[in-house]
Amino acid sequence: MAITENNLKITATCSSGLEEILQKEIESFGVNVDSVGKNTVQFYTDMQTLYKLNMATRTATHFFLFLKQFFFKNADEFYAKMKQILWEKHFNVNKLIRIDTKGNSFVFRNSHFATLRTKDAIVDRFRENYNDRPSICKDNPEIQITVYLQNNQAIVYLDSSGIPLFKRGYRAVHAQAPLKEDLAAGILMLSGWDKKTKLIDPMCGSGTFLFEGYLMANNIAPNLEREFAFMHWKNYDKKIHDEVKRELESQIISANTQFIGYDIHESPVKLAREIKNKHFPESKINIIHNDFRRINDDISESFIIANPPYGERVQTDNRINDFYHEIGDFLKQKCNPGKASILTGNLEAAKNIGLRTSKKIKLYNGPIECRLLNFEMYQGSKKNFD
Ligand SMILES: C[S@@+](CC[C@H](N)C(=O)[O-])C[C@H]1O[C@@H](n2cnc3c(N)ncnc32)[C@H](O)[C@@H]1O
Repeated sequence: MAITENNLKITATCSSGLEEILQKEIESFGVNVDSVGKNTVQFYTDMQTLYKLNMATRTATHFFLFLKQFFFKNADEFYAKMKQILWEKHFNVNKLIRIDTKGNSFVFRNSHFATLRTKDAIVDRFRENYNDRPSICKDNPEIQITVYLQNNQAIVYLDSSGIPLFKRGYRAVHAQAPLKEDLAAGILMLSGWDKKTKLIDPMCGSGTFLFEGYLMANNIAPNLEREFAFMHWKNYDKKIHDEVKRELESQIISANTQFIGYDIHESPVKLAREIKNKHFPESKINIIHNDFRRINDDISESFIIANPPYGERVQTDNRINDFYHEIGDFLKQKCNPGKASILTGNLEAAKNIGLRTSKKIKLYNGPIECRLLNFEMYQGSKKNFD
């Protein structure tokens, strides 16, 4: 299929385990998804929808525009085919560019050499046409080019997002072991939370679940105000971008959902409160400095969401098995009736929760293989973990 401005071939990327959720998100914007792969969702769309997907999806990390796929026998052929790409149609010579090469090829001993040949091809093409060249900028690029190598095949993409989309802009300082925003949003979608029931995170850290939950409940696009790489493309249409922004703003609702986070440590509580005051001042998000084992508020009929310590990165004040046993007691005694969704990277310890899961979903928190454990607490909840 020939690719035109209304027919852009896009690969969206996401964290492992969120592919189906991202597919649903993309389809909710009227897009037909072609295929779903490991960490990727592929589809065709138009420029306006590409802007919207960057601003409004919660679980994507990047949206890549496909430029070209080709075979090469050696580095010279690779250079020549890279040079055939109409780079000047995509960006102006004064832009700062960055090239990333991923994958493996027997032609290039290391990917850095492929990056250099790509840079040469782009620079030479601009020099020949304009007697000038774009500059390379690794830290703060405007145009990001990604080359995937699979032996003697290259696939070339322009990244429309730039900075990964989980960087919403509300968390400048990093807390201890925070969840990435895309994963927190994906977990909330997989948990079955209905966006109306009071959301409680008993070990909230920097509050990622609470902030992502607030954005979801109020139908606020998470990246409304952010910069995107597509804003530096030659065909960038500010008018369309503004229109999309206005449309998304008009869809914001004012939900009554309440959000409460607890944390035993003072520093994450301080950080979460700072984020709340600066970025979500109107929200009904309450951050309380407390040990979840000492919560006396009535929190039954709530939805519990948590990413407790796994016993590796974050230390707990007692042994990890006992700690998960106490999480189980907390769910059975304080959160009954109610629902809970717990992300853990410590499956052995999680058996001590002692409640039957209604659903178990495999996810990755960075490199750590995790399970999202969904529970339903009601009078006479089954007590065996399976
Ligand atoms: C993995 S972190 C949670 C990160 C959080 N989801 C975020 O995105 O920032 C676990 C948190 O549990 C907190 N914690 C550990 N024991 C606790 C307890 N007994 N009561 C409340 N919070 C506790 C830690 O202080 C830490 O912030």
